[in-house]
Amino acid sequence: MTVPVIAIDGPAASGKGTIAQRTADALGWHYLDSGALYRLAALAALRAKVSFDDPAALTAAAQSLAPQFKDGRIWLDGEDVSEAIRAETVGVAASKCAAVPGVRQALFDLQRRAAAAPGLVADGRDMGTVVFPEAKLKIFMTASARVRAERRVKQLEARGEKADLAALTRDLEERDRRDRERAVAPLKPAADARLLDTSEMGIDEVVKKVLGWWSELN
Ligand code: CDP
Ligand code: CDP
Repeated sequence: MTVPVIAIDGPAASGKGTIAQRTADALGWHYLDSGALYRLAALAALRAKVSFDDPAALTAAAQSLAPQFKDGRIWLDGEDVSEAIRAETVGVAASKCAAVPGVRQALFDLQRRAAAAPGLVADGRDMGTVVFPEAKLKIFMTASARVRAERRVKQLEARGEKADLAALTRDLEERDRRDRERAVAPLKPAADARLLDTSEMGIDEVVKKVLGWWSELN
């Protein structure tokens, strides 16, 4: 594949999405929020009242997923679910779906198709390890658990939602542990990933770092 890809992976609320979107904007590239696909699969399964202990049913729900992406909004079955998929309950459900090999397989092609000219910045858990192993720049983005939980609380409050720091910290930890420990495509840095701890870094500083790394490679 000749389309250039920047892959950004890391634990929940480390800032991957924000940085990936801004980097894509700066380069005039496409952006893939792969986590949104897992969140959509989870929302579809929750709404269809599928048992989360039934891998075949979760796989079927993911296979029949037909989301639409329009003007920065995400639609599922004719409904704008852009906000609904961001609930932390959906994040936890997404990490359960994401441990099912059939679900990952069902979403693989959707993700690969996002790699289009002039380039793609993709964020998730396995962008550099599984989905885009050919990515020229791979970044594993982290931040301390405390900073990540605080960032997510601020994000939820800015959307007018109530957020409890202790409960959210537990949810993020549970999700990260499940993501790290699963058998398929676990959360881990690719062997050739650059590690970036953003605990003490502002958004502009991180974007500058990523763009700097990209230009060094070219
Ligand atoms: O995609 P991911 O869950 O890793 O994180 P995000 O949704 O992009 O970022 C979580 C929150 O942290 C957002 O509200 C960002 O604006 C904020 N953030 C930050 O304060 N400093 C950074 N260096 C990166 C993100
Ligand atoms: O934004 P945040 O970091 O909280 O989560 P997300 O990127 O929206 O991903 C939600 C969940 O989907 C994660 O906890 C993972 O279990 C799963 N996921 C995955 O397994 N592989 C990806 N490439 C992206 C997300």
